[in-house]
Amino acid sequence: SSKHSVKPMQLDLAILKDDRLPMPQQKKPILKYAGGKTWLIDYVGKGIWRRLANTGGRYIEPFLGGGAVALWLSLPDMILSDKSCPIMELYQTLVDGPGEVRAALIKLVSIGVDEDAYYTVRGDVPRTPVGRTARLIYLNRLDYNGLYRVNKAGEFNVPYDKSKKIPKDTMKLFPNLGRFWGIQQAFANAELFSCDFANICRLAGEGDVVLADPPYVSAYDQYTEDGFHDADHARLAEELRIAYEAGATIIANNADSPFVRELYDWAPHILTAAEARAINSDGEGRGGVDCLIITTDLEVLGT
Ligand SMILES: C[S@@+](CC[C@H](N)C(=O)[O-])C[C@H]1O[C@@H](n2cnc3c(N)ncnc32)[C@H](O)[C@@H]1O
Repeated sequence: SSKHSVKPMQLDLAILKDDRLPMPQQKKPILKYAGGKTWLIDYVGKGIWRRLANTGGRYIEPFLGGGAVALWLSLPDMILSDKSCPIMELYQTLVDGPGEVRAALIKLVSIGVDEDAYYTVRGDVPRTPVGRTARLIYLNRLDYNGLYRVNKAGEFNVPYDKSKKIPKDTMKLFPNLGRFWGIQQAFANAELFSCDFANICRLAGEGDVVLADPPYVSAYDQYTEDGFHDADHARLAEELRIAYEAGATIIANNADSPFVRELYDWAPHILTAAEARAINSDGEGRGGVDCLIITTDLEVLGT
């Protein structure tokens, strides 16, 4: 078709003229997140952008976490979800009132920024969404490896990071007000949910793009009290297959293993990150060394 003879540069200009879509701003995650996918933006960011500009479809992300890709895209029509309630409460609360969260964070910082204060804050879960959100941001900047981990009761249980260098101006450790407002702007029009991925995948239809970044097989999975098991991986592959049949473009990533390759044997393209890099010259070997990028459409890897 004529669409395929258009050079990428011309496509980009067409996007610029499309006033339904603002150009992506460099909005960054507010949380440090285990398994954060900032590196994936280089591989699929522009491709997702171009696809949605052409179809007018929705961006759907069922494993949002730190939200690196969704924040970069900042599209008006996004469906974002994560099974972790505290994480999604954080985004909803920042959309509702970034200034209030920032004020609550300043109060927590005034308690102190050291090991004692950390365990005081960790031991006390506030009763309001604003309080809980500020607490999460506080703990996230001081905990070991910026990890988000819960025990079987769903309680945040990461220890204090003793090696952390605390600056004189302790507020410097925490995201600034611009970062708070960045989340507000990026997600203000998004539909935010907190549920299992299956409920989100089933919303996908013609012209939509689904990006699925689950906890990897045989890797860290204590983001939620239930963990993420082989049966969940099988369920996910099946839900994504159904979304693909409903007309959505699918991008999934996971560890490279025979199990994963078999689950996605229905997908047109299963690439190692190195193979994806060969297609996409923006991905300069950063991140995702041993992982797979599974997609139903190679064009989303285009630059
Ligand atoms: C690898 S992380 C996603 C990281 C994200 N792409 C980023 O850039 O920060 C996987 C996420 O899956 C979520 N999760 C675990 N089980 C889930 C389930 N059954 N349904 C939806 N989300 C789930 C976890 O809470 C975690 O945030």
